[in-house]
Amino acid sequence: MKILVTGGAGFIGSNFIRLILGKYPDDEIINLDKLTYAGNLDNLRDVESDERYRFVKGDICDEKIVNEVMPQVDAVVNFAAESHVDRSIGGPADFIQTDVFGTYVLLEAARRHEVGRYLQISTDEVYGSIREGSFTETDRLEPSSPYSASKAGGDMQVMAYHTTYGLPTLITRSSNNFGPYQYPEKIFPLFITNALEGKKLPLYGDGTNVRDWIYVTDNCEGIDLVLHKGQIGEIYNIGGGNERDNRTITGMILEELRKDENMIERVADRLGHDFRYSIDCTKAQQLGWAPSHNFEDALKETVEWYVNNRWWWEKIKSGEFEQYYREHYGK
Ligand code: NAD
Ligand code: DAU
Repeated sequence: MKILVTGGAGFIGSNFIRLILGKYPDDEIINLDKLTYAGNLDNLRDVESDERYRFVKGDICDEKIVNEVMPQVDAVVNFAAESHVDRSIGGPADFIQTDVFGTYVLLEAARRHEVGRYLQISTDEVYGSIREGSFTETDRLEPSSPYSASKAGGDMQVMAYHTTYGLPTLITRSSNNFGPYQYPEKIFPLFITNALEGKKLPLYGDGTNVRDWIYVTDNCEGIDLVLHKGQIGEIYNIGGGNERDNRTITGMILEELRKDENMIERVADRLGHDFRYSIDCTKAQQLGWAPSHNFEDALKETVEWYVNNRWWWEKIKSGEFEQYYREHYGK
């Protein structure tokens, strides 16, 4: 299979590319990525010389470049997005542009060039918050943040292209990923690297908000399965089944690094902060998917990865990232 991976220089996309190249000797990948602040070719250093891999710098909103690459592939997996909730609260425009309009540009080109399969990478955040129980794929969408609303808008376009034009689409909605190469603005890499630098860990509100954590390669395995075996037109939830509140996650990271809890700093809560995400993954399980990583072991491995790969995150934190956060959030 020849696959167009968009947003492949980001966290999950780069882990997905590595998985596919390792698993399928005959597959080829074109990685179309705009290289926003979150796109980083360091994430793919180990595969960049593989002749089955090609990087194209470009924006999914650019119809010209998208229509150049689309005829060369059999399938599309769209990871490209503005992905950070706090940034969407600071300024929603880029989110609507990429996550909604960019998705439309990809869909339109996929339709024109009769691509075999179009897989949209979505998120459990489109369902909104849930106090008890878990969302299934047919539940209504009730996004809370400009980020999750833009992702829901992308999903709606995907569903419309399937219904109206018969485009062979698929959607996965995963829970919170963690693992190597995650940009240090998300709670796992931010808290690990802050602790290593002797900086405070800014915990929002009372720290009781709950997320369901999935190790990134378990999500990538699920995406791979849905891409190959998913039923066209369907949506698949992919969750780790590891619900933890933020205080617990913070405590586990500090314990792993043998750092004191006094490094935690309670800060103002995120606006519109969703209390809990939870998804029912029966449908993906029936397709044959199950996460293979134990949460505690994967957390340890992840902490170790950031301890051993300071080259990767120190240059990110010393530049644009720090400046942005100082300007927008004072941290
Ligand atoms: P990320 O922010 O690490 O990476 C996003 C990538 O997309 C970057 O390489 C960036 O350069 C690229 N990109 C952004 N705008 C683009 C554009 N207009 N054209 C081309 N490339 C563009 O994100 P991530 O955490 O790897 O998430 C990947 C996808 O998975 C996103 O769609 C996100 O909504 C979804 N998702 C993420 C999580 C999570 O926990 N990280 C969970 C569920 C779903
Ligand atoms: O649920 C899937 C989503 O998970 C993805 O769709 C998003 O792309 C991804 O960013 C992630 O969103 P969250 O908002 O859940 O992730 P984040 O790491 O930003 O925050 C996780 C929790 O930690 C959340 O309750 C807010 C809290 N938090 C986060 C940061 C960055 C803090 O307490 N302090 C922080 O500094």
